[in-house]
Amino acid sequence: MVAAGNGEGVVSVARRVVQVERAFLTQAVGFMLGRGIRQFLDLGCGKPGVGSPHDMGRLTGPAVRVIHVDYDAEVIERARRVIAGTEHRYLVCRNVTDVSGLIETCQAAGMLDARRPTGVVAVGLLHLIPDANELLSRYSAELPRDSVFAASHLTRCFKDDDSGAAAKLIGGPVYPRQRQEIAEMFDGLALVKPGIVALPHEWGTPAKSIAGAPVLAGIAVKQ
Ligand SMILES: C[S@@+](CC[C@H](N)C(=O)[O-])C[C@H]1O[C@@H](n2cnc3c(N)ncnc32)[C@H](O)[C@@H]1O
Repeated sequence: MVAAGNGEGVVSVARRVVQVERAFLTQAVGFMLGRGIRQFLDLGCGKPGVGSPHDMGRLTGPAVRVIHVDYDAEVIERARRVIAGTEHRYLVCRNVTDVSGLIETCQAAGMLDARRPTGVVAVGLLHLIPDANELLSRYSAELPRDSVFAASHLTRCFKDDDSGAAAKLIGGPVYPRQRQEIAEMFDGLALVKPGIVALPHEWGTPAKSIAGAPVLAGIAVKQ
């Protein structure tokens, strides 16, 4: 197994992973808003924290709908306290691999209009799912043209003796994938240039000056 940080401590690498992912989230949401996206599906929202997806209300403005999804009931409960009283913010406790079930539930509850372009955000999620290879394609099949997909993904394992600590910090056992596999997750979608990139990266918005981490990411549009 390859160490994530050339001997660097797991806590420090995991912190950088979160930092670059947070910056990516801000860029991806900005890109989506710029394309007129006004409803977002935040897959694997995680526990609320500084700059976490629960802050998306600040990025998107109040008129935009955001549905945060996580299968961990405790995560959802914590998030509920953070977004309580905020309009157009929804929480759904569900496994994101149940794509049709999730979309149907959100539609039936009036949270999502699946005929309208949607921003699908999967930051720090796909490397936690063993069979995630076709997940973005399955969401794309349920959503209309001009929907936008943003995902980040770990590319390297932590050392065996660090993997427990890494799992705790990153949110579960990690399934790192190589660039080609990550690129294939966007099959059928038009990747925004320059395609799959190492984070941090600039997509129009200047990237914060933070050190790199073993994370690749892409933003893609359904055409
Ligand atoms: C690293 S954490 C939070 C990432 C968050 N998007 C962020 O940017 O801070 C990943 C979250 O994904 C959730 N998760 C993992 N697999 C999932 C699945 N199959 N369905 C729903 N949630 C999942 C975990 O419970 C965890 O809260």
